[in-house]
Amino acid sequence: MSDFFNSGWSLYIAIATVAGLLACLALLIIAARRRVMASDNTTGHVWDEDLRELNNPLPRWWMWLFVITIVFSGIYLAVYPGLGSVPGSLGWTSLGQHQQEQAKARAVTAPLFAGLAAKPAEELARDPQAMAIGERLFANNCATCHGSDARGSKGFPNLADADWLWGGTPEKIAETITSGRQGAMPPIAAAVGTAEDVRNVAHYVLSLSGSAHNSIAAQLGRSKFAVCAACHGAEGKGNPALGAPNLTDKVWLHGWGEDAVVAMVTKGKTNVMPAHASRLTAEQIHVLAAYVWGLSNHGPVTPQ
Ligand code: HEC
Ligand code: HEC
Repeated sequence: MSDFFNSGWSLYIAIATVAGLLACLALLIIAARRRVMASDNTTGHVWDEDLRELNNPLPRWWMWLFVITIVFSGIYLAVYPGLGSVPGSLGWTSLGQHQQEQAKARAVTAPLFAGLAAKPAEELARDPQAMAIGERLFANNCATCHGSDARGSKGFPNLADADWLWGGTPEKIAETITSGRQGAMPPIAAAVGTAEDVRNVAHYVLSLSGSAHNSIAAQLGRSKFAVCAACHGAEGKGNPALGAPNLTDKVWLHGWGEDAVVAMVTKGKTNVMPAHASRLTAEQIHVLAAYVWGLSNHGPVTPQ
């Protein structure tokens, strides 16, 4: 219960809660008092000639209902959180309940996942039941970033093609999901030289994939690529140990063209795939890795 940014707020909410309850109680007591207003106990209001409003207190049973709700609130606040940041005697939290339910669900599915974990990913990728589970896990955990069809978008890699930053074997994919990845290209324009040099090296990069480029600029930029070769390799084919992309294909994670490459060199880019070890079990990650591997190796398997 550390959701308040200072204890003053907790106190404020606790006081407002208690004051609200006391005010309800006071209102009840006042309403319960029988106050005779006129000799015939009417308020003096008359409608439709003879319809007179009586000044009776609330019926007893009704009043007791209100009293019970107030007593209930008191008990509730004592055992559950509700009075500012007071945790309540049961120690209940929504997070704790969520974790309990998660543990229960995992216990139910554990035998199923144990069976799946025993099989190699390549075999799972051909098993329609395993792939149906993989698809659902993907939709729940990965689709927000990689898209429901796993084809990604700018900055988020396509997982359904055969192009990999960090390696596309089931083992590498499982490693990516478990521990996450951080692709980091530093701003490196200063090491390349002038703005002209940066533009030239960008044209050289575009020439590597046979993309539209200015061949004179590319020729001039060639020698400058030595700065890039440390990570992208002498031939620009990338390095999966660093997550440095292959620059000789036409797959562009951060956009295509002179401007996009110049922006990469001058601004750099840090791109993070979050670790999922704390959110998914090792067995779930195994099934997901098989699912992702399967997408680029024989497309989705649909149940017959
Ligand atoms: C918050 C967004 C986000 C979520 C959620 C996410 N990813 Fe990623 N993922 C990324 C980014 C960004 C990268 C690229 C990292 C880089 O540039 O090196 C990436 C990279 C990857 C890669 C490496 C691709 C390659 O070419 O080597 C795999 C595999 C992958 N994600 C699978 C998954 C799976 C499976 C899930 C669900 C469990 C998932 N991701 C959830 C953002 C996300
Ligand atoms: C320290 C290592 C390192 C150096 C040096 C480096 N890069 Fe990179 N580069 C990376 C990494 C890592 C990425 C992927 C970033 C990510 O995960 O999104 C990348 C991404 C890129 C991209 C984007 C590719 C795409 O698919 O959109 C381009 C273009 C690029 N680099 C060009 C260059 C050029 C040109 C140079 C030399 C001037 C250079 N890089 C130097 C590590 C490096």
